[in-house]
Amino acid sequence: MKIPFFTCFSSATKEHKNNDNPEGEINDGSFRLFTYNQLKLATRNFHSSEKVGEGGFGSVYKGRLLDGSFVAVKVLSVEVESMRGEREFVAELATLANIKHQNLVSLKGCCVEGFHRYLVYDYMENNSLYKAFLGSEERRMRFSWQTRKEVSIGVARGLDFLHEDLKPHIVHRDIKAKNILLDRNFTPKVSDFGLAKLLRDEASYISTRVAGTLGYLAPEYANSGQVSRKSDVYSFGVLLLQIVSGLAVVDAYQDFERFIVEKVWIAYQSNDLLKLVDPMLNKNFPDEEAIKFLKVGLLCVQETVKLRPRMSEVVEKLTNNVDMKDVHISKPGFVADLGKIRIKKQNSSHERSSAGATFTSSIWSSFNLAR
Ligand SMILES: Nc1ncnc2c1ncn2[C@@H]1O[C@H](COP(=O)(O)OP(=O)(O)O)[C@@H](O)[C@H]1O
Ligand SMILES: [Mg+2]
Repeated sequence: MKIPFFTCFSSATKEHKNNDNPEGEINDGSFRLFTYNQLKLATRNFHSSEKVGEGGFGSVYKGRLLDGSFVAVKVLSVEVESMRGEREFVAELATLANIKHQNLVSLKGCCVEGFHRYLVYDYMENNSLYKAFLGSEERRMRFSWQTRKEVSIGVARGLDFLHEDLKPHIVHRDIKAKNILLDRNFTPKVSDFGLAKLLRDEASYISTRVAGTLGYLAPEYANSGQVSRKSDVYSFGVLLLQIVSGLAVVDAYQDFERFIVEKVWIAYQSNDLLKLVDPMLNKNFPDEEAIKFLKVGLLCVQETVKLRPRMSEVVEKLTNNVDMKDVHISKPGFVADLGKIRIKKQNSSHERSSAGATFTSSIWSSFNLAR
């Protein structure tokens, strides 16, 4: 199924009229322009107890609209000058709000008032995969093999939709456990797709956002800013390895085998992938299937970009009875020596228009490597 990719700017304009009257909130699923007062009311004046997270763009608050529905309000703390102009900003968001899939977080609307810019999303009751799954053994214990399988397949489907059904396609650029949100049924929803376009200079997107997520970054993206669907496939592969093993993406406290990708590759070479399946599963998983998932993860993180599968192939492999015994997997790539990465900031971005942000080693060393 190919989905046309169009804007619904007219519906945004129509909704704006409604929002002059806060009582007139309409919840028909179309893109809405909210007033600042509506968001203030919904979040109890952005009360600290309603804060559900903090990211590269700013804080996220839980809110309740007058119709009783819950939303997540993302406060954009990026300087307004670096953001697109008001009309362009709203048009871009209206386009994003049209993208609907059961494994994507729905954008409900936004608010632009003076210096304030906010994004309003459906609220996800179980927060992110990062918060609900990683970090402690108790959390991981709650995720059975079946749940891990469903989460992995759901994320793969969401990404496949962005890459292969949408025209033009969207490269996510920031696939990581924090951007996989879980609704009340633990259905995974990919969040934050398409945000790079909200900034005038897409390079600043990379330096503000991606600087926290090195372990997920495809080497060609980290080293020379080459962004493509296959760099998302790499990040998905890392995420998949993480879901099966429960391991940190980068182990900052270790000198060798710091990266999850290295650990899994070494186990693969010694034909011992099973030892990497999360011990919290207490052996309650089908061996062959767990090995298949790890192999698919390894296929996604291969160093040679063109050898990585497309997301539709990943979905196919994860959902069908595909025999992976004779599949050849080549060496994974990873950003091995953090100190050597020299990514210059903004000034080099003009040379490489498509996300050519480069990072200084000081940025690399200062960000959070933990998970
Ligand atoms: N729609 C949402 N529903 C519930 N929680 C959310 C939602 N969006 C974001 N969050 C929480 O807020 C955090 C910060 O989000 P974000 O600003 O996108 O930064 P990041 O993706 O780097 O974590 C997320 O990690 C998540 O815990
Ligand atoms: Mg996010």
